[in-house]
Amino acid sequence: MADISASIQNRDAAGDSSGEAGPVEQTTMIEARNLDFYYGENQALFDISMVVPQRAVTALIGPSGCGKSTFLRTLNRMNDIVEGTRHTGEVLLENEDIYDSNVDVVELRKRVGMVFQKSTPFPKSIFDNVAYGPRIHGMRDRAQLAEIVEKSLIRSALWKEVKDRLKDSAMALSGGQQQRLCIARALATDPEVLLMDEPASALDPASTSRIEDLIFELKENYTIVIVTHNMQQAARVSDFTAFFYEGRLIERGDTEKLFTNPDEKQTQDYITGRFG
Ligand SMILES: Nc1ncnc2c1ncn2[C@@H]1O[C@H](COP(=O)(O)OP(=O)(O)OP(=O)(O)O)[C@@H](O)[C@H]1O
Ligand SMILES: [Mg+2]
Repeated sequence: MADISASIQNRDAAGDSSGEAGPVEQTTMIEARNLDFYYGENQALFDISMVVPQRAVTALIGPSGCGKSTFLRTLNRMNDIVEGTRHTGEVLLENEDIYDSNVDVVELRKRVGMVFQKSTPFPKSIFDNVAYGPRIHGMRDRAQLAEIVEKSLIRSALWKEVKDRLKDSAMALSGGQQQRLCIARALATDPEVLLMDEPASALDPASTSRIEDLIFELKENYTIVIVTHNMQQAARVSDFTAFFYEGRLIERGDTEKLFTNPDEKQTQDYITGRFG
């Protein structure tokens, strides 16, 4: 608990504009409405209603198996790839249901990009990794591609380290660099939302800190939803936090409030380490 308070204070000291009144709720980017989700017979999400504000960081926390990744993946229909899944309810992206039959899933995933826990660069050059998405979307112009690659690597805070070795294999990068490369890859298709599932859990403290700084910078331009097991991390990087338990959303609110004065006893028990 003391650690989390310190994390919140550090975050404020780092220049978060939220100040004492907490972050201002911006325009809603994503909204889940009464979302139920099933893997075959097993229901993994129960009646989730939640907003994700634009250009802010929303953290999803909760014990293992509570549905964080499942919920994250419903936001760009990544669960569609899993056989036998279904949902009821709605997920609205700027007020349009992403599960509508007329939605182009490729276009959706361009707008709502994803970064996974274990970064998995393709066994290709650094350049080709970042250019991958734009090429899939039909971009062929070499100069334009080079510009996008550079811009994405600058945004993911990797450019300085790799600018002279863009033709080298991405597999030769360190774990932390690979994770930033995967963030660059996600940024290259110019998304509006970035979904991150435990993006730093496999990294050392220095690389983790770089990723956290990066998330802080990225929220100026992107809506970010991050799953993390690490409550200190949630407290440090997020504006809003949602606590999930057994497939249900127990509480969602300002990060500072949720970690210092939650409404629900279950949240209190979790953040004070009584379970999970
Ligand atoms: N591909 C899948 N097929 C069937 N059931 C799944 C699948 N993925 C997750 N589940 C089930 O859905 C529930 C929620 O899992 P999920 O992976 O969303 O939890 P989580 O909160 O991300 O956990 P963790 O912190 O361990 O990553 C669990 O009961 C899990 O067993
Ligand atoms: Mg998970």
